[in-house]
Amino acid sequence: MNSSLALDLEKTSRTANGGIVVLLGLFALAGNFISFYFHFGTVAFLLLVLLNTYWRHFQSSHTLLANFGFLAQFRYLAESVGPEFRQYLFSSDTEERPFNRNERAEVYRKSKGIDSSSAFGTLLSYDPEEAKIRHSFYPTDKQRLEKFDVAVGAARGLETTYHINRPIMISAMSYGALGENTVRSLARGAKLAGIPMNTGEGGYPKYHLMENCDLIFQLGTAKFGVRNEEGYLDDQKLADLAAKDQIKMIEIKLSQGAKPGKGGLLPKEKITKEIAELRGVPQDKDVLSPAHHLECVDAKTTVEFLARVQKVGGLPTGMKFCLGRDDEFRELVQEMKRQKTLPDFITVDGGEGGTGAAPKSFMDDLGMPLFEALPLVHQILSEEGVRAQIVLFASGKLISPGKQIKAMSLGADVAYSARGFLLSLGCIQALQCNKNSCPVGITTHEPHLQKGLNIEDKSKRVANYVDALHHEFDELLAATGAASASSLTTKNIYFSNANQSVAANN
Ligand SMILES: Cc1cc2nc3c(=O)[nH]c(=O)nc-3n(C[C@H](O)[C@H](O)[C@H](O)COP(=O)(O)O)c2cc1C
Repeated sequence: MNSSLALDLEKTSRTANGGIVVLLGLFALAGNFISFYFHFGTVAFLLLVLLNTYWRHFQSSHTLLANFGFLAQFRYLAESVGPEFRQYLFSSDTEERPFNRNERAEVYRKSKGIDSSSAFGTLLSYDPEEAKIRHSFYPTDKQRLEKFDVAVGAARGLETTYHINRPIMISAMSYGALGENTVRSLARGAKLAGIPMNTGEGGYPKYHLMENCDLIFQLGTAKFGVRNEEGYLDDQKLADLAAKDQIKMIEIKLSQGAKPGKGGLLPKEKITKEIAELRGVPQDKDVLSPAHHLECVDAKTTVEFLARVQKVGGLPTGMKFCLGRDDEFRELVQEMKRQKTLPDFITVDGGEGGTGAAPKSFMDDLGMPLFEALPLVHQILSEEGVRAQIVLFASGKLISPGKQIKAMSLGADVAYSARGFLLSLGCIQALQCNKNSCPVGITTHEPHLQKGLNIEDKSKRVANYVDALHHEFDELLAATGAASASSLTTKNIYFSNANQSVAANN
């Protein structure tokens, strides 16, 4: 700020601070001599003068208030409503993060079953860094596309092999991060759409089970729902849960993209009595999960733990992580081969992934983005000769069919989305998932906020979203000339020169 502006601000605040004292006097006089009603002003200005005196002389936590008095409150006010103003009035349709208005509107349209064709041409600037899908001169006849079918557990010949028949699934989000109505809407929607839903690391999946959809039980690092008192795996609890008909797969969470190297975090504001019971934790403290499973301290113990969970659960079992060091991943794969224990699936989560709550530096500065990590994981598994035995799930902003096709071209077999499904429920990206104050009732436990989230209505939106995604996915797939999603390779996407090396390696 230049010095003349600083001077203006000082002068203005001095005038304002003196002005309210003068106005207090004037209202007091007018109340005495003209009409009693002026004393409403007297009271208001008296309160303002008292508060102003406190802010200027008796507090030290807000420098601006101490230096300039009540006028500084306007700055705090403008700052607090800034995001809303920017979102609704000032940001362009392609500007906001993590999802811009165009992207969100597309999910809303798909969820409401509204025609999502647009006019006149793309609104995106050409981004040479971004991969684009290559189409063919000879698109596949849509009737001849092979049915989407990914069998998880087939490589081990499991009786419990699970077939995924749609390209997208609901990624892990715990009851705790999400409210009851949200979990039930998503679970009922998953059932309607015929897709599995991941429970997240929130413990015993009481509300998920109510809706009778297929579930992937997530075994987080704190093992909520299946832990003993010391936080280690309780085999019996896991076996009991895995025996439930709806539980189809188990995902061991090693890490997630928004906070790799750090365990889950549930702020105490969001811990109800019920959540504390389902997780087995106190209600009055933030719940911090350990950064890693207590059983897993190196490649050897991690694979031993995988083998144990596969044995105890008897279900297709895999692991989720965000890639950090690829040398560590290769070492892990080699250890898997040594122990003859392969995961039935691996979920690669991109550093751009979402979360209910995480430190900003973890979200911003750690974790490989999905489109960098996926080809690396695919390549290492291929070089180690085990790619065919392991199904690859991928997550990280895969909310549109185009992104899903690109992920599959880079090695994924099935896409996962978390925030896409929150948008399908009407998420307005208020960025308050960590505060229990979500205005659309999605990531909150407040009954008055959840009231507007009608489970029957919202579950249909979830199913509509999946139907529309799948329909458009098939259209794009046909345009590439491929006969099936499983035959997509990096040849089906175009990279800028900067990224050609990734393409060439696959
Ligand atoms: C509200 C919320 C809660 C989440 N909770 C979990 C969780 O319990 N376990 C987990 O592995 N990932 C969790 N995630 C991450 C997602 O499962 C997913 O990996 C990530 O958001 C990337 O997908 P997206 O970009 O489609 O959201 C959560 C994400 C959100 C937005």
